[in-house]
Amino acid sequence: MRRILKNSSIKWRLTFIILMVSFISVLITTFAISIIGVFSLRSNLVKDLEITASIVGDRNTAALLFNDDKQAENNLNVFSVNPAVVQACLYSEKGELFARYLNKRYEYDAKCPTDHSAESVIEKERIKVMQPVVKMQDTIGYIYLESTQDQVDRYIERQITIAFLVACGALAVSWLMAINLQNAISQPILSLSEVARQVSRNRDYSIRAPVRGDPQKEYNNELVILTESFNAMLREIGARDQQLKQKNTELEKARDIAESANRSKSQFLANISHELRTPLNAIIGFSSILMNQLFGALGDSKYMEYSRDINESGVHLLDIINDILDLSKAEAGKLTLTYEEVHVGKSISKCVTILSERAQKGGVSISTHVPKMLPALVADRLRFIQVLLNIMSNSVKFTNEGGHVDVTVSTIETQGEVSHFVIVVRDTGIGMSQGDVEKAFQSFGQVDSGLNRKYEGTGLGLPLTKKLLELHHGTIEITSELGKGTCVTLVFPALPPAGLDYQLADI
Ligand SMILES: Nc1ncnc2c1ncn2[C@@H]1O[C@H](COP(=O)(O)OP(=O)(O)OP(=O)(O)O)[C@@H](O)[C@H]1O
Ligand SMILES: [Mg+2]
Repeated sequence: MRRILKNSSIKWRLTFIILMVSFISVLITTFAISIIGVFSLRSNLVKDLEITASIVGDRNTAALLFNDDKQAENNLNVFSVNPAVVQACLYSEKGELFARYLNKRYEYDAKCPTDHSAESVIEKERIKVMQPVVKMQDTIGYIYLESTQDQVDRYIERQITIAFLVACGALAVSWLMAINLQNAISQPILSLSEVARQVSRNRDYSIRAPVRGDPQKEYNNELVILTESFNAMLREIGARDQQLKQKNTELEKARDIAESANRSKSQFLANISHELRTPLNAIIGFSSILMNQLFGALGDSKYMEYSRDINESGVHLLDIINDILDLSKAEAGKLTLTYEEVHVGKSISKCVTILSERAQKGGVSISTHVPKMLPALVADRLRFIQVLLNIMSNSVKFTNEGGHVDVTVSTIETQGEVSHFVIVVRDTGIGMSQGDVEKAFQSFGQVDSGLNRKYEGTGLGLPLTKKLLELHHGTIEITSELGKGTCVTLVFPALPPAGLDYQLADI
């Protein structure tokens, strides 16, 4: 019942509750009145029977005194007009049956009792009265009357009929009341819920719930307050929604402008880098001709020193320009990878060789741990080495004399196949704080801890490394502690994304 009520609408709940309350109250009232009625009816019946018994007893005193049983029977026959009387028994002084009236209908189930001392009793179906017949304070006999309770049964039947009719009337009245209440209570709530449904379906905050009643006059009516508040809430949401849409449009515009500015910047950097590389290559080429004295001795040793400086600076500038070009291309989405099989161990050895001179100068030792039976990694070989060089050169660069750099390679297997390569580069260098790690990933984001300013660099290595890893669908994670060291974890998928072709190059 409770579940049915829970699932039904407020309209049906209200109607059901009103109908049930009135129906049950009618039943309880009728039941109570009937019980009281039955009790008083029974006691009235007993009294009536007792009065009748004493009257009939008085009438029979002469018949008893003169032993005239015929007269007594005649007297008792008056009960034949009352079908409720089952029998009447008259006894002599000694208690012997003197005369009797028996209703024909109860011929077989009525007997005159022998005990004269019994008082009035109400049995299940009968009322029985026994009284002495007294003449001048002497008991000259006894009279016994037995009556049915038909009257009580008829009363109960009548009460049931009345109760049924009253209950029907009450239900009808309650139904009318419920309809009235629906208009007053459930209708505003239903219309509120309908409006709420429309608002959530159409996302239209201009809809308003109709206010039933005058808010000025009915300021105490909770339903009017509820509807007014609901409408105010809709107005507020509508206004905010409008503001939000406006803000979104502005933000989208700003984003488009920023993106286009970024694209222009990347394009500009790519162009300028390209333009710079041509004269730089000439500078590097000519300075190396001078350095190598291809067209004869330079003479003064200062010329030799300066031409080496020109060459080194040129190479360094070319490195920077190449990084800028790569980063700009990556940001403009124009950097493409050429996948081929890469020997991870050999690539790491190559990086160690490139960095060994620098590490030796700085007093930093490098160790590597590469498993022997490694499968090939499918990646862009040159970019893979570029990533390794960036990370390992950082470790060498930011580690002071006596420090150590360690490179460890491991694999992750999925369903028995190597799915990822994990390369961990750990150093015992100057380290960074957590905030600095985030800054280090931004272009030109060199961490200025006061210590590292003595290290050369442009702050392009890490952002470029991150972009290259993203292009490979890999990840880079840096954990670092100031003064203790840094640990960089690179994860490369063993294979390029499905559907991408790659060359099986000679590794
Ligand atoms: N292993 C490391 N230990 C301490 N600090 C580091 C380490 N790696 C990077 N950093 C910090 O992060 C900054 C950014 O590194 P990133 O490689 O991008 O630039 P860079 O090495 O300074 O210059 P570039 O790589 O362009 O020559 C560095 O300047 C340095 O402050
Ligand atoms: Mg670097």
